[in-house]
Amino acid sequence: MKKSILLLNGPNLNLLGMREPETYGSQTLADVEALCKEHAEKHGITLESFQSNHEGVLVDTIQQAKGVYTHIVMNPGAYTHTSIAIRDAIIGVEAKVYEVHISNVYEREEFRHHSYISDIAKGTIVGKGVPGYLEAIDQIAEDK
Ligand code: DQA
Repeated sequence: MKKSILLLNGPNLNLLGMREPETYGSQTLADVEALCKEHAEKHGITLESFQSNHEGVLVDTIQQAKGVYTHIVMNPGAYTHTSIAIRDAIIGVEAKVYEVHISNVYEREEFRHHSYISDIAKGTIVGKGVPGYLEAIDQIAEDK
């Protein structure tokens, strides 16, 4: 199956560029989505984007991605640290997920140190800013 990526951003990432720019930078979500699409296309990979603030919608979206996309690049936002439901959805559909965090969660509050996603993700990229999303796409391009 030809590689295809779903870029999935979770809660509050719709506010990128406006929200805590000292932590998350000045690029908007639209900028990030456009950059990722362009970057994936350089590798000959198609990429579509979706964002939701709602846990159940993210679970639905992961379930529906089965058989449609070969990979998911996901920044689950705060649900990273709380959501067994998102973890179970990823396991349930055997999705190849790369987890991305713009900020270095390990250098922030202790409640951000635990991820329900990292041990089941194919890769985790943390604290590299927006280029972290592009790095995830590069890793997917190299995936067998
Ligand atoms: C984040 C880190 C999370 O702890 C936080 O809740 C976010 C964004 C990041 O990209 O650095 O919303 O996932």
